[in-house]
Amino acid sequence: MLRAGIRVSDSYRQALLRYNITSVWIDDGLSDGIEPLEVLSENTKRRATTAIRDAFRDVSRSLSAGTTMPVDAVQEMTEVAELIVSEVAGNVHSALALNDLANADGYTMKHSLAVTALGLSLGLRAMRRFGWVDAHGERRFDGIEQRLSTLGIGLLLHDIGKLAVPAEILQKPGPLTDDEWLAMRAHTTLGVGILQRAEGISPLARAVVRSHHERWDGTGYPSRQAGAQIHQFARIASVADVFDALTSDRHYRRARPIHEAWQHIVSRAGTDFDPEVVEVFRSSVAPYPPGTGVVLSDGACGLVKEVRQDFVSLPIVRVIMDSSGAAIPPFEIDLSRSPGLTIVSADFDPWTSAAANPIAVAT
Ligand SMILES: [Fe+2]
Ligand SMILES: [Fe+2]
Repeated sequence: MLRAGIRVSDSYRQALLRYNITSVWIDDGLSDGIEPLEVLSENTKRRATTAIRDAFRDVSRSLSAGTTMPVDAVQEMTEVAELIVSEVAGNVHSALALNDLANADGYTMKHSLAVTALGLSLGLRAMRRFGWVDAHGERRFDGIEQRLSTLGIGLLLHDIGKLAVPAEILQKPGPLTDDEWLAMRAHTTLGVGILQRAEGISPLARAVVRSHHERWDGTGYPSRQAGAQIHQFARIASVADVFDALTSDRHYRRARPIHEAWQHIVSRAGTDFDPEVVEVFRSSVAPYPPGTGVVLSDGACGLVKEVRQDFVSLPIVRVIMDSSGAAIPPFEIDLSRSPGLTIVSADFDPWTSAAANPIAVAT
């Protein structure tokens, strides 16, 4: 850990990167009072990370030994899923900002936790709003918490089949060949195979593992299912999965900015994704989380101060620069109450832009 006031030199930067810390919060005059939205508490993140790491290790061992996932790993997954469900349920009325899960190590583990947090948040809102469909085709609104913990187990384990995909394919820095794609895509059915023999894993959790790459319009894999043929849990997982994949650094490309990934999801309602899930995503996930530097449609620039559910695209912005690029005394503006004023880009960086230097001094 670094002390407050320490200058982040290149060697510190390299050290942070080695620990998979790819971004830091800057706490200074400009960001004073701007609080990151935390989806999960540090404690839960830590416990979930350990549980995922242990489960992955157990599964790797069982793959080579030809045994199955041990009962206590299943039990720990269940407990972690329930813990995340209760935290997510406590935050059901806040907007979701999902840029804070960077402390799990290894892409698949970090990704599994991020997908679980987002998937459960979306799942809770989707089931409260649209219900879930039972075996007789009836929409129901009962037993949602119970269903959520099953969904949580599915999300935690959705990519478990990647443990059976050769590492040189998983970590290949360039584009995959056709054969390599086939091997990669097999992680869905391989995952089902791994969990088939594991005691205590619900078939609904396995549906997430099997079908999270299916697409609403029937162009996904492994079974080209479409629409409601795809289990609702997998339709929820699919949105969370793609959003997290797009906003993470990969071997073959850099992370896309959050608002671009957000736009990607929203524009693919009804093609890649279930329109109901996208509707829930659109109204609850912040395209510009607190702290994002933004340019407004009148040319002024500032930082997102606060995002509220149902107005996620129209946050409260702390304006610090006018349209001519001059520093001004900061003031806050609520875009949801400012007709005609919108965010046009997230390209404003007050800490590196030359024009921002006088502001840093001014605060
Ligand atoms: Fe996957
Ligand atoms: Fe995934």
